[in-house]
Amino acid sequence: MSILIIGIESSCDDTSAAIVKDDILLSNVVASQAIHEAYGGVVPELASRAHQQNIVPVVHEALKRAKVKKEELSAVAFTRGPGLIGSLLVGVSFAKGFARSLGIPMIEVNHLKAHVLAHFIKEEGEDRKLLPTFPFLCLLVSGGNSQIILVKGYDDMDVVGQTIDDAAGEAIDKCSKIMGLGYPGGPIIDCLARQGNPNAFAFSKPQVPELDYSFSGLKTSFLYSVRKWVKNEPNFIEHHKADLAASLEAAVTDILMNKLTKAAKQYKIKEIAVAGGVSANTGLRNAFHEYAAKYDWRIFIPKFSFTTDNAAMVAITGYFKYQKKDFCSMELPAYSRTIL
Ligand code: KG4
Repeated sequence: MSILIIGIESSCDDTSAAIVKDDILLSNVVASQAIHEAYGGVVPELASRAHQQNIVPVVHEALKRAKVKKEELSAVAFTRGPGLIGSLLVGVSFAKGFARSLGIPMIEVNHLKAHVLAHFIKEEGEDRKLLPTFPFLCLLVSGGNSQIILVKGYDDMDVVGQTIDDAAGEAIDKCSKIMGLGYPGGPIIDCLARQGNPNAFAFSKPQVPELDYSFSGLKTSFLYSVRKWVKNEPNFIEHHKADLAASLEAAVTDILMNKLTKAAKQYKIKEIAVAGGVSANTGLRNAFHEYAAKYDWRIFIPKFSFTTDNAAMVAITGYFKYQKKDFCSMELPAYSRTIL
């Protein structure tokens, strides 16, 4: 008999619900919160309130699009953490009430692992998809995380490198803010970078040991450089925004790919995946293709809709855990800290 899982995601500023039938995605509904644009970043309290407004209609729509009745569901998978605690509480509380009312089990999902497992989502009607095989390496880059993950199984992952300060997405968003651009900065920087010269400006790149990352130095170097240039030429940003964006994107990509190449060599792995919001970035995607050709990597780059926060990745993770009857207690609290 088929397994029908609903996934609930509310870890940051996207409220999402998705339904999978076994490993096939039937629906994935995401309500993004435009309210944060006015503040240049996610305002936690506003995010929680927006999740409260969105969660019921989003779940309703996911069931409708999947043509599934709630009584047919086998289990409720939900993001337990890490993320903004107030945001998580909305999804976790909803999941508990929903599962209890239907008398079905709950499956807790780690947001970071779900990003990695997004590579296993199959869509209806999709031809046989090439899936990563274990062990593989996954570069997880988002607004909150920059990690290299050694993926040994669906539920067996080790973080082998990570940022010691800012995440890559956070640094891009902050540099975009310095340039007076909108929020989130990632997509805007990406768009501008396509018209700019990546070698126009050089920003300092950190020297961090082993496989760890640092992006705060790059952000500071960007800030001080731009301040200096604006002092000499008040319209500097306006005149050079494409070159600034391209140079910033090139620096971030270079830092990310350097450590990833080091990890691939160290672990002798040629199956390399990328996940998280920043994996939507064109420069990073292009670099993946270049490195694949250069180092004979087999690369896995998710569809745009599965790079940013979505419940499809939560539902598919739920499917894998359901098979092992890996259910959780209704008493579990949400957690905000990063644990894998
Ligand atoms: O995974 P995600 O949706 O949320 C979490 O942080 O959990 O990632 C959001 C991050 C933001 O920093 C956003 O600016 C960045 O992903 N991002 C991009 C692009 N699209 C989103 N960064 C660079 N280029 C993009 N095209």
